[in-house]
Amino acid sequence: MLDNLPVNTTVKMLGNELEVCRNDNHQEPTVILFVQIGPFGEDRRFIEKSRDFGPTLLHSFKSGFNEKGRHLFFGEFPPLHPTKKPKVVHRWESNLFDECMLAVGGRACAIHSFFNSQPDESHYFRSMYKTLKPLIFRLQPEKAHEWTMTLLTFACAIPGVGALLRAFYAVQSDALEVEVAGLKFPNPVGLAAGFDKDARWLKQMRVLGFGFVEIGTVTPLPQDGNPKPRLFRLPDDKGIINRMGFNNSGMAAAAARLRRRPPGLIVGGNIGKNKITPNERAESDYVQCFNALYDDVDYFVVNVSSPNTPGLRELQEKEPLQRLLETLMRERSKRSIERPIFLKIAPDLTNNQLDDIVELVQAAGIAGVIATNTTISRKGLKTPAEKVEHMGGGGLSGAPLGSRSTEVIRYLHEQSKGAFPIIGVGGICGPEDAQEKLDAGASLVQVYSGLIHEGPALVKRINQGLITG
Ligand SMILES: Cc1cc2nc3c(=O)[nH]c(=O)nc-3n(C[C@H](O)[C@H](O)[C@H](O)COP(=O)(O)O)c2cc1C
Repeated sequence: MLDNLPVNTTVKMLGNELEVCRNDNHQEPTVILFVQIGPFGEDRRFIEKSRDFGPTLLHSFKSGFNEKGRHLFFGEFPPLHPTKKPKVVHRWESNLFDECMLAVGGRACAIHSFFNSQPDESHYFRSMYKTLKPLIFRLQPEKAHEWTMTLLTFACAIPGVGALLRAFYAVQSDALEVEVAGLKFPNPVGLAAGFDKDARWLKQMRVLGFGFVEIGTVTPLPQDGNPKPRLFRLPDDKGIINRMGFNNSGMAAAAARLRRRPPGLIVGGNIGKNKITPNERAESDYVQCFNALYDDVDYFVVNVSSPNTPGLRELQEKEPLQRLLETLMRERSKRSIERPIFLKIAPDLTNNQLDDIVELVQAAGIAGVIATNTTISRKGLKTPAEKVEHMGGGGLSGAPLGSRSTEVIRYLHEQSKGAFPIIGVGGICGPEDAQEKLDAGASLVQVYSGLIHEGPALVKRINQGLITG
């Protein structure tokens, strides 16, 4: 019999029954139970054929792989709603348990306590990221981005590892589900545009627990972006300055990758114009991207707010913006499925310009707004001014952007009287920041810079924080 696990969970062997009991409360993390059965040789059919090995077990256990002739399975049991009494959440009966009781108990106890000895189980992965961060931050930011994603891609390619990481990172709870613009999001935390410009890492982002991912900004033609260096970290400020300039492999390549996108992940397509396209012909670029990605994304984002494409932000002015949105809505009306369209705006707009946005969004009938993109402001930074100046132009993101982007969200929400959904992004580095955006009127949130400074466990921390309040 196994008892006294460090959270309110017990795993018991009763005769030939394996029972998992829980004292449920909202703070309890997902239980990850490992069961090692064997050794029965390499033949998994031995288990599958066993008459007494209830179908529930094989069904409930998400993944399994062989390890030195043993069969290692793990199951994931998300927290339930609060109850007073300990509750049996799973019970299985099998004559195999008699033989494998010790292996089951030992493995369950060891790994369970590793993951769950703290109320905030992401503690371990945060510490791990803290240890790795000085090494990662020694690399040039663009290289670090590429290498860490390559590493994650390799890890996920090992059988079972992707599922194991997902079991750890993804928080699954009814309390997190949210419907926005007719789409059902498993949780409200998304990856902001710019991180996965070419839709290369959708599977990996699902593993990290994101409820949705926005790819792009995608342009019609592939383009290299601005000369390097063009990406700078501001560790003292938890900030980033970038002037990437829409480096991406173009709409055709993105569409081809999206056709292999993983199921169960909401994907948005953030679209823009090529640098060589003059503003007078910008509409055509947006329409081309819109049509190229239409069948393979769940929503669209019209990006007119990047500071790194000359002249782009002029498209935020009332008349060109109205024309652009109306054109895209007309294109959409030719389709049988209506994909929601969001407009992504800059944090540097005046209140008058924000009033125009409120009017335009409603007049055009688009779904809502993403607030905000990066800022051209350099106010309130701890990083010495000459160092910041040396980095040069570009958009500032991360913690220094947080309060301004919340201000914009609140203003839009109040002025529109909540008439349309807002996706809040800018400076989210923890659950409190996300909650602040939601309290200001956002329906969903996105992160980018916080992920670089806090590590991938940020997504889980935010989701857990939103459940516990
Ligand atoms: C390196 C980098 C590249 C970005 N590229 C894009 C982009 O291509 N399109 C876009 O709409 N936003 C882009 N963004 C802006 C982010 O999507 C987000 O709006 C902004 O960084 C604020 O969020 P954060 O403070 O969580 O980073 C980029 C941000 C960074 C840091």
